[in-house]
Amino acid sequence: MLGKKLAIDLGSSALRVHVRGEGISLAEPSLVAADADGRFLSFGIEALHRAQRGDVVLRRPIADGQVADAAALDALFALIVNRVAGRQRIFKPDVMVVVASSMNGPDRRAVMEVATHAGARTTYLIDAPLAAAIGAGLPVSGPDGHLVVHLGGSTSDIAVISREGAIASQCLVHGGGHLTARLQEHVERRSGVLLDESTAEEAKREVGSAVAPHEERVITLSGLDRRRAEPGEVTVSSTEVCVLAREHLRVAATAVDAVLADTPAALLADVRERGGMLTGGATRLRGTDRLLAAVTGLPMQTASDPENCATRGGAAAIENLDVLRRNFLYIR
Ligand SMILES: Nc1ncnc2c1ncn2[C@@H]1O[C@H](COP(=O)(O)OP(=O)(O)OP(=O)(O)O)[C@@H](O)[C@H]1O
Ligand SMILES: [Mg+2]
Repeated sequence: MLGKKLAIDLGSSALRVHVRGEGISLAEPSLVAADADGRFLSFGIEALHRAQRGDVVLRRPIADGQVADAAALDALFALIVNRVAGRQRIFKPDVMVVVASSMNGPDRRAVMEVATHAGARTTYLIDAPLAAAIGAGLPVSGPDGHLVVHLGGSTSDIAVISREGAIASQCLVHGGGHLTARLQEHVERRSGVLLDESTAEEAKREVGSAVAPHEERVITLSGLDRRRAEPGEVTVSSTEVCVLAREHLRVAATAVDAVLADTPAALLADVRERGGMLTGGATRLRGTDRLLAAVTGLPMQTASDPENCATRGGAAAIENLDVLRRNFLYIR
């Protein structure tokens, strides 16, 4: 094989990289560690571990679907390309980067420039809903309309796709991380115990559900008792998380309605009949498909391996550039 082909899903919580011939070879937190002099040392899990030892600050390159820290993004690309392509490169890799559909023009340009700076031969960008649709196996090249509801950590990126393009779309800054934050606020208000983000995240995953659970589940968690200023314990039930999750998902359901309202009538009938494909890590919350189906009145199906759909779709797209080229921004 000559140059490698990489697909990089630049999520705000997770970074995923697919290498042609190897599959998804990297899935780590979207974080970079910098020392006191601003030198970037590592990314992902290694960065988190260094931060636990206390000698670095963590910087987040992407937040809310936009570039939040351009210097950290530049360092991140260099670290990724070194990790997956090796330092001694004879051939430069082609790189497909998956970005939120709401990413603005200057940020898109910045992403392409850092990828090129990191050694990419040609850099392409693809919007997350199109990539996720391809990764979920939807036949996006045909004339039919396909509804994709891509729910990530900080964004909900919803689109009707037909002939490899988004016909109507909405991208909200509203993702699974916002539900975790709501849970932290709720628990603190009710009990005075402040949970850190990873503890609230654990509760959401363990007992969380968007529909009334068959049997109530309860988890006991440790946090900081604000009133006594000492460690404290609190229990969280699935019913409690359910109330918050329903409210949270109603926002995505409203965006689905708005996207359908913008969809031409000729496509609407088959979209309504076929329903929506759910992708992105946040669709792992139990009952998300049932709640969204009930609120929107459309059938909803969760893709298999939903958090990896966008990365896999980016990898498939880079193999099919002739078909898909009109949807990419690219520089070489
Ligand atoms: N089992 C689970 N139950 C509930 N939520 C989950 C589960 N697994 C992952 N999530 C949520 O999925 C979200 C991360 O999804 P994903 O990896 O698709 O985000 P991202 O691509 O980094 O974000 P974005 O695309 O918005 O920039 C997090 O909010 C996480 O809490
Ligand atoms: Mg994402």
